[in-house]
Amino acid sequence: MTGPQQLRGARFAGIGYYVPDVVLTNADFEKTLDTTDEWIVSRTGIRERRIARPDQATSDLAIEATNRALADAGLTPKDIDIILVATATPDMPFPSTACLIQHRIGATQAAAFDITAACSGFIYGVTIAQSLIVSGKARRILVLGVETLSRIMDYEDRATCVLFGDGAGAVVMEACEPGDGVLGSYLRSDGSFAELLYLPGGGSRRPLTEERLRNREQYVKMKGDGLFKYAVKAMVGAAMEVLREAGLTTADIDFVVPHQANIRIIDGVLSRLHVPPEKSIINIDRIGNTSSASIPIALGEAKEKGLIKRGDRILMVAFGGGLTWGALLLKY
Ligand SMILES: CC(C)(COP(=O)(O)OP(=O)(O)OC[C@H]1O[C@@H](n2cnc3c(N)ncnc32)[C@H](O)[C@@H]1OP(=O)(O)O)[C@@H](O)C(=O)NCCC(=O)NCCS
Repeated sequence: MTGPQQLRGARFAGIGYYVPDVVLTNADFEKTLDTTDEWIVSRTGIRERRIARPDQATSDLAIEATNRALADAGLTPKDIDIILVATATPDMPFPSTACLIQHRIGATQAAAFDITAACSGFIYGVTIAQSLIVSGKARRILVLGVETLSRIMDYEDRATCVLFGDGAGAVVMEACEPGDGVLGSYLRSDGSFAELLYLPGGGSRRPLTEERLRNREQYVKMKGDGLFKYAVKAMVGAAMEVLREAGLTTADIDFVVPHQANIRIIDGVLSRLHVPPEKSIINIDRIGNTSSASIPIALGEAKEKGLIKRGDRILMVAFGGGLTWGALLLKY
């Protein structure tokens, strides 16, 4: 995507993340559902997840992550040209969550919009932001992956509610020298599998009625085994493709940030890519699957722990509802 012929690149100037304080453990689920800590840990790797307080909406989590990313970049909201929010759980259908954030942080120079690509949303968002920066349309873009999935979970459905958590991750992207920043990205989708992971009620197809609420159509439906089958193959394929386009192999990669959906999916991806565990990060045990927020949160944690440094080549890879999947290669 980017190449030496380009006049400029797009780098990550700042990273920030936020997870709510409220912890929901597997032991909590044992009290209300026919499940066990042993089942959840062995099948998913998840021990606990974070849940937004009732007064916290998606934009509230996003602003916490934004403030940290701006501080990390040494910038203020007025430096931002565009706010791009990847989310499947906006504050409301419209206006966009990005517009609500724009107003509340006082980003008076910024355009603002949301995108939906489920768990791949951050990879999609960064790719769009990179294109806008490389084309000269914008100089600095705030990209967020943020979710309050707890609001669309059916806490009577043990097959879904144990998997997901809430959180926000943000990066400030800015123009840089070509050859630095985003080195490439690969995005794909297959809508024929839309019903493997979806929220049936509340849109224009099935507006919510009392009957649909009774049928719990306001909550996420998932066919976990169907998703599992595609996830590893799609993520490995995307990673290989982005590396091939950049003329690199996994041996050239310093660190891998995989989407955190299931420890078995992550292990499968890393082993097929021949990436040792010490060159990657796992936080699914503590925060579950936070969908579009998963990669920027893990990236933020990796930075905090000193696992990544400026100049490292970082591979990010995601898979999610849609289906959507993709990979991103960054020189940090
Ligand atoms: C959901 C998932 C963890 C299930 O794991 P699995 O190995 O496929 O599960 P198994 O096939 O061994 O077991 C399924 C059984 O466990 C049961 N089960 C589901 N959730 C359970 C829970 N929390 N506790 C106990 N049992 C549970 C199911 O009801 C099913 O029972 P049945 O066989 O009597 O119908 C796994 O398929 C998965 O992670 N899929 C991907 C999901 C995902 O990543 N989604 C987001 C994409 S970004």
